[in-house]
Amino acid sequence: MKCGDYHEEEEELSDRNMSTISRHVFGDNLEQPAFSVSIIENMKEEYGLFLWPCSVILAEYVWQQRERFAGVPVVELGAGTSLPGLTAAALGSDVTLTDDSNRVEVLENIRTVCELNKLECKVLGLTWGVWDEFVFSLKPKIILGADVLYEASAFDDLFATVTFLLQNSPGSVFITTYHNRSGHHLIEFLMVKWGLRCARLLDGFSFMPSCKASGLSGNIQLAEIVLNSEHSEETTTIAR
Ligand SMILES: C[S@@+](CC[C@H](N)C(=O)[O-])C[C@H]1O[C@@H](n2cnc3c(N)ncnc32)[C@H](O)[C@@H]1O
Repeated sequence: MKCGDYHEEEEELSDRNMSTISRHVFGDNLEQPAFSVSIIENMKEEYGLFLWPCSVILAEYVWQQRERFAGVPVVELGAGTSLPGLTAAALGSDVTLTDDSNRVEVLENIRTVCELNKLECKVLGLTWGVWDEFVFSLKPKIILGADVLYEASAFDDLFATVTFLLQNSPGSVFITTYHNRSGHHLIEFLMVKWGLRCARLLDGFSFMPSCKASGLSGNIQLAEIVLNSEHSEETTTIAR
């Protein structure tokens, strides 16, 4: 497999209208990848059944930060096709994949994609800002969210859930990738409002292998967000 082929193996599934499977490889040498994750997408359906560039970037970051993921509990919010969470599962994390509890077909697709990859993850309907009982038992060390900051009306609900999870699991971190459409100001405003701070801020393309980056576009940033009250060695960094 050549580097540029990293998600070339797209096939149409005959029994699912417009569904395709793409294979995403991870490794220091993409010609001999350490592992791959297959993703099912459906172009006709809604947001959660399409693999967004933010997800490819977050999954690559998970791979590059793999020492942090082995054996730790991870929750992915708004997982959709779930590439970052499945990458964490392949690295040995104890992963819970979540998406809006009202989007049954998205949750069904997540279960199918776990089976396809033979990865055991919990799959739960978790709607941001809704406090179902199981939410109180989630204690992730790492919370993932790719392209979950896209609809301003949902930002407070998302941050309410993120802040709760960070408080419920001291020392945890929210790692998110998002399109920087209106500058970082809105995220900064929300962080101040919810008592959070950015421990690390990266240009999403700064760590991408060129062959993976070439298929993606947009001004995408990656932020690691923690509780403002928690001490950390890291200071905010912007790499370009
Ligand atoms: C733009 S898609 C990103 C999907 C996936 N993370 C990716 O990057 O490919 C946004 C995701 O957030 C989920 N979502 C939207 N509103 C939500 C809410 N209120 N609660 C939970 N999930 C939500 C959608 O179902 C969808 O899967």
